[in-house]
Amino acid sequence: MNAKTEGPLYGKRIILGVTGSIAAYKAADLASKLTQLGAQVYAVLTKNACEFITPLTFRSITATPVLTGLFDEPDTGKIAHVDIPANADLLLITPATANIIGKIAHGIADDWLSTAAMVVTCPVIIAPAMNCNMYANKVVSGNIERLKELGHRFVEPGTGRLACGTEGVGRLADLDKIIDEVLAAIGANNDLAGMNLLVTAGPTREPIDAVRFLSNYSSGKMGYAIAEAAAGRGAKVTLVSGPTELAAPSGVNCVEIQTAKEMLDAVNQNLDGVNTVICAAAVADFSPVVTKEHKIKKNKQPWSLELAPTIDILKNLGADKGKRILIGFAAETEDLVENAIIKVREKNLDFIVANEVFKEETVFGGDMNKVTIITSNGSMQDWPRMSKRELAGKILDLIKENYWEGKI
Ligand code: CTP
Repeated sequence: MNAKTEGPLYGKRIILGVTGSIAAYKAADLASKLTQLGAQVYAVLTKNACEFITPLTFRSITATPVLTGLFDEPDTGKIAHVDIPANADLLLITPATANIIGKIAHGIADDWLSTAAMVVTCPVIIAPAMNCNMYANKVVSGNIERLKELGHRFVEPGTGRLACGTEGVGRLADLDKIIDEVLAAIGANNDLAGMNLLVTAGPTREPIDAVRFLSNYSSGKMGYAIAEAAAGRGAKVTLVSGPTELAAPSGVNCVEIQTAKEMLDAVNQNLDGVNTVICAAAVADFSPVVTKEHKIKKNKQPWSLELAPTIDILKNLGADKGKRILIGFAAETEDLVENAIIKVREKNLDFIVANEVFKEETVFGGDMNKVTIITSNGSMQDWPRMSKRELAGKILDLIKENYWEGKI
């Protein structure tokens, strides 16, 4: 597979260091994904990694020579373990054993990878994978802290069943998380420089009393993925977010709100200079007319709650659209296309990203999404199921190619 001539990592040279862990096989998939994102990947396998997976696997995926021995010189006349690292955009070690982390933390350079780690001046990302006791070992955690202090980025391992049969922290992080870190470190090709984007994300909470609220299952992942990807591509981004479990993406101005009214106010207060708005939030459509100051006590009587409609933030923006590009999301449980078309028209949108929430079990809270894009001129595109991160990139590409260039 040859590197693509496009994608957020196009033109980036990544050294993918693979060390001796059972998770080494996952590095082959990672190499493939990075190549598909446009990167030129140089796989480096330690001697122990070669016990788990073969160099041929990586050569077939990356179409570049795979480096295993310190004195390998695929380009005659050039000292590969100095030349390639010196010109790399990123050193990514996945999976990283306690051994390679220890060597790098203490300046030991006795093979290609540990030597390259000393030569590089580019960002370094390390994704550890090891037995949970090893990961918890104070020497290992001390080495990790030391490298973090030196600016190395870590993608923390996940919890789960480990190859040794135990349960605990030590599983290689999801590849999507590792790729997010790669994009955050070097994915900025600034093709969205000049875009001033406001994104809404997450649910809102409408308080009933001192301890209860009305809300929905939105995780905020879609809006956060868009905000992060846009900031990584050079856009100025404000993210107005309801309560989520997610960390604020780096480089994004994050405004936290609770209620639909607070989201409306925050959007209005942050609209200055904004030329593109993407409303991915699942805003409550109704809010209790009265919020009781104290906890409502139960009694045996049926009880009803009076609700008033909230203001439709997106529709409000559509009513005073000007030259702004306006994109909405539509969560539908039936008649997806018909309902989405009505929303595009009524809210004066450029396009809407519509998904059928009951069909796709994982939309709320999940990492994947399958959507249909419906534009104001009536065109419709069914996109395949993909990760929210990938979808975020494709939505931004669509804006850039069809709405952004020439319009602003
Ligand atoms: N939206 C908004 N403010 C609201 C309600 C919705 O900005 N008070 C935005 C959402 O962020 C989304 C779009 O409007 O981009 C559509 O939201 P959705 O919940 O699918 O539809 P609604 O317009 O609320 O209509 P309904 O719930 O009847 O389907």
